Amino acid sequence: MITNLSVNINKVALIRNARGENLPNLVQVAKDCEAFGAAGITVHPRPDQRHIRYDDIPKLKKIVTTELNIEGNPIPNFMDLVLTNLPHQCTLVPDKPQALTSTSGWDTIENAAFLTEVIAEMQKAGIRVSLFVNPETKFIEGAKKVGADRIELYTGIFAKSFHTSKRAEEMAKHTACSQLAHELGLEVNAGHDLDLQNLRYYKQNMPYLDEVSIGHALISNALYDGLESTIKQYIELLK
Ligand code: PXP
Repeated sequence: MITNLSVNINKVALIRNARGENLPNLVQVAKDCEAFGAAGITVHPRPDQRHIRYDDIPKLKKIVTTELNIEGNPIPNFMDLVLTNLPHQCTLVPDKPQALTSTSGWDTIENAAFLTEVIAEMQKAGIRVSLFVNPETKFIEGAKKVGADRIELYTGIFAKSFHTSKRAEEMAKHTACSQLAHELGLEVNAGHDLDLQNLRYYKQNMPYLDEVSIGHALISNALYDGLESTIKQYIELLK
Protein backbone atom coordinates (compact mmCIF):
# COMPACT_ATOMS: atom_id res chain seq x y z
CA MET A 1 0.00 0.00 0.00
CA ILE A 2 1.06 3.59 -0.57
CA THR A 3 2.18 5.47 2.53
CA ASN A 4 2.05 9.23 2.20
CA LEU A 5 4.81 11.46 3.52
CA SER A 6 3.57 14.57 5.30
CA VAL A 7 6.45 16.93 5.98
CA ASN A 8 6.33 18.66 9.36
CA ILE A 9 7.66 22.20 8.84
CA ASN A 10 7.82 23.31 12.50
CA LYS A 11 11.62 23.53 12.41
CA VAL A 12 11.54 25.80 9.36
CA ALA A 13 9.37 28.20 11.36
CA LEU A 14 11.78 27.95 14.30
CA ILE A 15 14.66 29.22 12.14
CA ARG A 16 12.48 31.96 10.69
CA ASN A 17 11.43 33.14 14.15
CA ALA A 18 15.04 33.44 15.28
CA ARG A 19 15.38 36.70 13.33
CA GLY A 20 11.82 37.99 13.32
CA GLU A 21 11.76 38.40 9.53
CA ASN A 22 10.49 36.04 6.85
CA LEU A 23 13.59 33.95 6.09
CA PRO A 24 13.18 31.09 5.41
CA ASN A 25 9.78 31.74 3.88
CA LEU A 26 7.49 29.12 5.39
CA VAL A 27 4.88 29.35 2.65
CA GLN A 28 7.50 28.88 -0.07
CA VAL A 29 9.01 25.93 1.79
CA ALA A 30 5.57 24.30 2.03
CA LYS A 31 5.02 24.79 -1.71
CA ASP A 32 8.47 23.36 -2.45
CA CYS A 33 7.91 20.31 -0.21
CA GLU A 34 4.83 19.55 -2.27
CA ALA A 35 6.69 20.14 -5.54
CA PHE A 36 9.40 17.72 -4.35
CA GLY A 37 6.82 14.99 -3.72
CA ALA A 38 5.42 15.43 -0.22
CA ALA A 39 1.79 14.32 -0.02
CA GLY A 40 1.02 16.62 2.87
CA ILE A 41 2.21 19.44 5.11
CA THR A 42 2.03 19.11 8.87
CA VAL A 43 2.23 21.90 11.42
CA HIS A 44 2.04 21.76 15.17
CA PRO A 45 1.30 25.22 16.57
CA ARG A 46 2.10 25.18 20.29
CA PRO A 47 0.47 27.57 22.75
CA ASP A 48 3.67 29.69 23.02
CA GLN A 49 3.89 29.85 19.18
CA ARG A 50 7.63 29.26 19.38
CA HIS A 51 7.72 27.83 15.87
CA ILE A 52 4.46 27.72 13.89
CA ARG A 53 2.41 30.83 14.68
CA TYR A 54 -1.34 30.90 14.61
CA ASP A 55 -1.20 33.48 11.80
CA ASP A 56 0.78 31.04 9.61
CA ILE A 57 -2.21 28.73 9.35
CA PRO A 58 -4.49 30.73 6.99
CA LYS A 59 -1.51 31.39 4.70
CA LEU A 60 -0.69 27.69 4.55
CA LYS A 61 -4.32 26.71 4.08
CA LYS A 62 -4.45 29.00 1.05
CA ILE A 63 -1.48 27.42 -0.76
CA VAL A 64 -1.36 23.77 0.29
CA THR A 65 -2.67 21.70 -2.60
CA THR A 66 -2.10 18.26 -1.04
CA GLU A 67 -3.25 17.92 2.58
CA LEU A 68 -2.78 20.26 5.49
CA ASN A 69 -2.55 18.45 8.82
CA ILE A 70 -2.72 20.55 11.99
CA GLU A 71 -1.60 18.84 15.19
CA GLY A 72 -2.17 19.95 18.73
CA ASN A 73 -3.97 19.82 22.02
CA PRO A 74 -7.60 20.88 21.54
CA ILE A 75 -7.58 23.79 23.98
CA PRO A 76 -10.13 26.53 23.11
CA ASN A 77 -7.67 28.65 21.04
CA PHE A 78 -6.65 25.58 19.06
CA MET A 79 -10.26 24.61 18.42
CA ASP A 80 -10.98 28.11 17.09
CA LEU A 81 -7.91 27.96 14.87
CA VAL A 82 -8.85 24.60 13.42
CA LEU A 83 -12.55 25.32 12.96
CA THR A 84 -11.76 28.65 11.27
CA ASN A 85 -9.15 27.28 8.89
CA LEU A 86 -10.59 23.83 8.17
CA PRO A 87 -7.51 21.70 7.50
CA HIS A 88 -7.95 18.34 5.77
CA GLN A 89 -6.85 16.56 8.91
CA CYS A 90 -6.48 17.46 12.55
CA THR A 91 -4.30 15.28 14.76
CA LEU A 92 -5.20 15.61 18.42
CA VAL A 93 -2.18 15.42 20.72
CA PRO A 94 -2.30 15.60 24.55
CA ASP A 95 0.84 17.73 24.86
CA LYS A 96 1.31 20.02 27.85
CA PRO A 97 1.61 23.77 27.05
CA GLN A 98 5.35 23.94 27.85
CA ALA A 99 6.25 20.52 26.44
CA LEU A 100 9.43 20.44 24.35
CA THR A 101 7.79 17.89 22.07
CA SER A 102 5.04 15.26 22.24
CA THR A 103 6.18 12.24 24.21
CA SER A 104 2.97 10.30 24.70
CA GLY A 105 -0.44 9.76 23.18
CA TRP A 106 -3.99 9.92 24.53
CA ASP A 107 -5.44 7.65 27.10
CA THR A 108 -8.51 7.20 24.92
CA ILE A 109 -10.40 5.47 27.73
CA GLU A 110 -9.90 8.02 30.48
CA ASN A 111 -10.55 10.95 28.10
CA ALA A 112 -13.40 9.29 26.22
CA ALA A 113 -16.11 11.88 26.94
CA PHE A 114 -13.89 14.85 26.06
CA LEU A 115 -12.53 13.25 22.89
CA THR A 116 -15.97 12.18 21.69
CA GLU A 117 -17.17 15.77 21.91
CA VAL A 118 -14.12 17.33 20.24
CA ILE A 119 -13.99 14.76 17.43
CA ALA A 120 -17.70 15.18 16.64
CA GLU A 121 -17.32 18.96 16.45
CA MET A 122 -14.41 18.71 14.03
CA GLN A 123 -16.04 16.04 11.88
CA LYS A 124 -19.18 18.18 11.65
CA ALA A 125 -16.94 20.80 10.02
CA GLY A 126 -15.68 18.20 7.52
CA ILE A 127 -12.28 17.64 9.13
CA ARG A 128 -10.75 14.16 9.32
CA VAL A 129 -9.64 13.52 12.89
CA SER A 130 -6.63 11.47 13.89
CA LEU A 131 -5.78 10.61 17.49
CA PHE A 132 -2.14 10.44 18.61
CA VAL A 133 -1.81 7.26 20.69
CA ASN A 134 0.85 5.01 22.15
CA PRO A 135 0.96 1.58 20.50
CA GLU A 136 -1.32 -0.21 22.94
CA THR A 137 -4.34 -2.10 21.64
CA LYS A 138 -6.63 -0.76 24.39
CA PHE A 139 -6.02 2.79 23.14
CA ILE A 140 -6.84 1.77 19.56
CA GLU A 141 -10.11 0.23 20.72
CA GLY A 142 -10.74 3.43 22.69
CA ALA A 143 -10.03 5.55 19.59
CA LYS A 144 -12.68 3.62 17.69
CA LYS A 145 -15.21 4.13 20.48
CA VAL A 146 -14.73 7.92 20.58
CA GLY A 147 -15.30 8.13 16.81
CA ALA A 148 -11.82 8.91 15.45
CA ASP A 149 -11.19 8.43 11.72
CA ARG A 150 -7.53 7.59 12.19
CA ILE A 151 -4.91 6.97 14.78
CA GLU A 152 -1.36 8.28 14.71
CA LEU A 153 0.95 5.82 16.43
CA TYR A 154 3.66 7.45 18.54
CA THR A 155 6.94 6.07 17.19
CA GLY A 156 9.31 7.74 19.66
CA ILE A 157 9.91 4.63 21.78
CA PHE A 158 10.30 2.48 18.67
CA ALA A 159 12.87 4.93 17.30
CA LYS A 160 14.85 4.88 20.56
CA SER A 161 14.84 1.08 20.50
CA PHE A 162 15.88 0.86 16.85
CA HIS A 163 19.60 0.43 17.47
CA THR A 164 19.08 -1.89 20.46
CA SER A 165 17.97 -5.47 21.10
CA LYS A 166 14.43 -4.17 21.77
CA ARG A 167 13.77 -3.21 18.14
CA ALA A 168 11.66 -6.24 17.16
CA GLU A 169 9.69 -6.17 20.41
CA GLU A 170 8.79 -2.48 19.97
CA MET A 171 8.00 -2.98 16.30
CA ALA A 172 5.64 -5.86 17.10
CA LYS A 173 3.45 -3.49 19.15
CA HIS A 174 3.04 -1.23 16.12
CA THR A 175 2.36 -4.13 13.78
CA ALA A 176 -0.39 -5.41 16.08
CA CYS A 177 -1.94 -1.95 16.44
CA SER A 178 -1.87 -1.40 12.68
CA GLN A 179 -3.67 -4.70 12.12
CA LEU A 180 -6.23 -4.03 14.84
CA ALA A 181 -6.92 -0.50 13.64
CA HIS A 182 -7.59 -1.78 10.15
CA GLU A 183 -9.96 -4.46 11.45
CA LEU A 184 -11.83 -1.75 13.38
CA GLY A 185 -12.09 0.46 10.28
CA LEU A 186 -9.53 3.04 11.42
CA GLU A 187 -6.82 4.39 9.14
CA VAL A 188 -3.25 4.47 10.42
CA ASN A 189 -0.69 7.27 10.63
CA ALA A 190 2.60 7.24 12.49
CA GLY A 191 5.14 9.77 13.60
CA HIS A 192 7.88 11.00 15.89
CA ASP A 193 11.61 10.44 15.52
CA LEU A 194 11.26 8.58 12.23
CA ASP A 195 14.41 9.02 10.16
CA LEU A 196 16.41 7.70 7.22
CA GLN A 197 17.71 4.78 9.30
CA ASN A 198 14.51 3.46 10.83
CA LEU A 199 11.82 4.32 8.27
CA ARG A 200 12.20 1.41 5.84
CA TYR A 201 12.12 -1.21 8.61
CA TYR A 202 9.09 0.47 10.15
CA LYS A 203 7.21 0.62 6.86
CA GLN A 204 8.04 -2.99 5.99
CA ASN A 205 6.58 -4.21 9.26
CA MET A 206 3.34 -2.22 9.13
CA PRO A 207 0.52 -4.09 7.37
CA TYR A 208 -1.42 -0.82 7.12
CA LEU A 209 0.20 2.61 7.13
CA ASP A 210 -1.54 5.52 5.44
CA GLU A 211 0.77 8.36 6.39
CA VAL A 212 3.94 9.23 8.25
CA SER A 213 4.63 12.77 9.40
CA ILE A 214 8.30 13.58 9.72
CA GLY A 215 9.95 16.83 10.71
CA HIS A 216 13.01 17.01 12.92
CA ALA A 217 15.21 14.44 11.18
CA LEU A 218 14.06 15.40 7.70
CA ILE A 219 14.85 19.09 8.12
CA SER A 220 18.19 18.16 9.73
CA ASN A 221 19.06 15.89 6.78
CA ALA A 222 18.10 18.69 4.40
CA LEU A 223 20.93 20.86 5.81
CA TYR A 224 23.34 18.46 4.15
CA ASP A 225 21.43 17.02 1.20
CA GLY A 226 18.98 19.79 0.37
CA LEU A 227 15.21 19.62 0.72
CA GLU A 228 14.47 18.06 -2.67
CA SER A 229 16.95 15.21 -2.38
CA THR A 230 15.98 14.57 1.25
CA ILE A 231 12.25 14.38 0.56
CA LYS A 232 12.92 12.02 -2.34
CA GLN A 233 15.06 9.78 -0.10
CA TYR A 234 12.23 9.52 2.45
CA ILE A 235 9.67 8.78 -0.24
CA GLU A 236 11.93 6.07 -1.64
CA LEU A 237 12.04 4.37 1.78
CA LEU A 238 8.24 4.27 1.83
CA LYS A 239 7.98 2.37 -1.45
N1 PXP B 1 3.61 13.55 15.27
C1 PXP B 1 3.38 14.36 16.32
C2 PXP B 1 2.09 14.23 17.04
C3 PXP B 1 4.32 15.31 16.72
O1 PXP B 1 4.07 16.10 17.78
C4 PXP B 1 5.51 15.44 15.98
C5 PXP B 1 6.51 16.51 16.37
O2 PXP B 1 5.92 17.76 16.20
C6 PXP B 1 5.72 14.58 14.90
C7 PXP B 1 4.75 13.64 14.57
C8 PXP B 1 6.95 14.63 14.07
O3 PXP B 1 8.06 14.23 14.83
P1 PXP B 1 9.53 14.49 14.34
O4 PXP B 1 9.73 15.97 14.29
O5 PXP B 1 10.39 13.82 15.35
O6 PXP B 1 9.65 13.87 12.97
